[in-house]
Parts: sequence; C-alpha cells; structure tokens
Amino acid sequence: MIQIDLLLKNLVSRLYSHGTKARADPVQGSLLEPGKAPTRLSAMEGYGSETYGETMAEVYDEWYGSDGGIALSQIGSPDEVADQVATLAGPAGTVLELGVGTGRLALPLADRGLAVTGLDASPSMLARIRAKPGSDRLTLVAGDMAEPTVAGTGFDVVLVGFNTFFNLATEAAQQACLHGVAETLAPEGRFVLEAFVPEPDAHDGVSVREVSVDRVMLDVVAIDRTAQTITGQRIVMTAAGNRFFPYLLRYATPDQLDAMAGEAGLERVDRTEDWRGTTFSDNSSYHVSTWCRADTT
Ligand SMILES: C[S@@+](CC[C@H](N)C(=O)[O-])C[C@H]1O[C@@H](n2cnc3c(N)ncnc32)[C@H](O)[C@@H]1O
Repeated sequence: MIQIDLLLKNLVSRLYSHGTKARADPVQGSLLEPGKAPTRLSAMEGYGSETYGETMAEVYDEWYGSDGGIALSQIGSPDEVADQVATLAGPAGTVLELGVGTGRLALPLADRGLAVTGLDASPSMLARIRAKPGSDRLTLVAGDMAEPTVAGTGFDVVLVGFNTFFNLATEAAQQACLHGVAETLAPEGRFVLEAFVPEPDAHDGVSVREVSVDRVMLDVVAIDRTAQTITGQRIVMTAAGNRFFPYLLRYATPDQLDAMAGEAGLERVDRTEDWRGTTFSDNSSYHVSTWCRADTT
C-alpha cells in the first residue's frame, strides 16, 4: 500500500519543518495552509451530536484504536494520558470522560484503578466499548456532552481528549459544556482538554490520504473562519462503492478556550504541548490544558 498526500505535500513539509509541529488528521482536526479564500458551505443538514460516532464506530479502532495515528502518537499514547490523569485524580479517583468512544483512553484509565464514567452521544460507539473485555468496570452513559451533568457530579477529573471538545459544533454548545463541567467537578477537581491549535490562515482543500490497488481515501474539507467550523467528508472509494464519513468541528484557540472556561467559572492551572509536560509555545500544534474551579482557589 502506498500512502501519499499529493495535494498537501507543501503543507506536510512546512509542518515537519517546525520540529514539534505534527500533521493533524483532518477528521479530528486540520492543520491548514494559508493563502486561499474559503469555500462557504452551509452546515450539514441533519448532522447531529451522534452523527460522528454513528458513522465512525465501525472504522474507529482501525484508524485510531492503538495509538491514535501519527499526530496523537506525538502528543501522548493512551498509557501516557492515563498516567497523567491518574496523577491528577489520585488513588482510586473518579474520572468522567466526555466522548468516550470505543474506550481508547477509558480502558487504560480503569487499568489504573480509577472509577471511570464515559459519556457518549453515539449508541454505536457505546456498543463497541461494551463489547470489549474490561468494559464492565466502566460506567457508560448515553448523552450529549453539552450537558455533562447527565453523567453525575463530584468527579476528580473531567477529561476530553483527541479534539473531541471541537465536536461540539457551536460556541454556545461549547460554552454550555464548560458550564456543565464546572458543575460536575469535585471542589478540588481538574478539567483536562487535549486539542489542536487552530492555524489562523486556514484554507479549504482536498487531500489524498491513501491510494492502494483497491482503495482510495480522500479528505474534503471546507473552513468557515467566521463560525470557526471545519466541515468535512472522508471518502473511501472501492470497487464496491463509496463510503462517506462526515464531520463537523468548531475549533477554538487556546485563548478562546481560556475565556470560555473563565466565563464558566474555571481557572487554568496548566498548559503543555503534550502529555509529557513539554512547554507550550507559539510553535505548538497541540495543547493539553488543565483548569480547576475558580471558586475553590
Ligand atoms: C474522536 S472520538 C474520541 C473517542 C475517545 N475519546 C478517544 O480518544 O479515542 C469523539 C467521540 O465523541 C463522541 N461525541 C461527539 N459529539 C458528542 C457529543 N455532542 N456528546 C457526546 N459525545 C459526542 C463521538 O461519538 C465519539 O465517540
């Protein structure tokens, strides 16, 4: 199988030339090239909180299951994430993961003796995780992370990894989530979010992710800079037909996240470039940020 990315080859060389910069997976977050005007697309008709999971559940572990792909491997493996979260939560601590998916992070967290609750809007994602050995240790809740309190309160850590916060496709939904997070946290609890840093000069585009004898995989992405949305389709083309994997993300800069978190009563206590504690800088492509409740500091 030959992996090529013809249309983004300049972008790839630009990203790798920054040392710490990594190329994000467009399905969960794009790093985008400057200089072209965006194509305007209206929001996808019928796209809801469950759409991403319902379409991705079948392929999720194949694409992201073991290490999360190139970009995520650079930020931190599931074991590195679990170690850091376990330190924050303390022995036998309680963790709520928003957008738990197939358990890529939740199961290693449970392996560390943490009491893990996973919230997800997609029945298919929840079915995948329930089918896995060890999932009986997890409390799994169906619901929208715009309302995290449906999963309970008093958590030592609330975690939202792998750009999942950006799956909340409007600023209002993100703000509602943060207000809910403040309510779900124990007084000394921590909210940890892992996400890409948006490139200010973003553009739309088509990238070729894979070409093999019997399969072509494309990403088609449109950016709306005003709404800060990434509207995309991953298209898998085979002799049997084409499959579409739609996604809609609302990105936010680290500063915007701090402002929204502050509005929700959260105060940032840490920001690193990865799960290994690398100092965050203007060149960082990703961040792992931690907030606490402002009323307890
Ligand atoms: C990129 S996956 C991340 C899964 C897992 N956290 C991981 O790191 O592998 C995003 C997950 O968030 C879920 N999701 C998307 N929007 C959601 C929403 N509004 N409420 C709850 N879950 C949502 C999807 O169903 C999917 O399982």
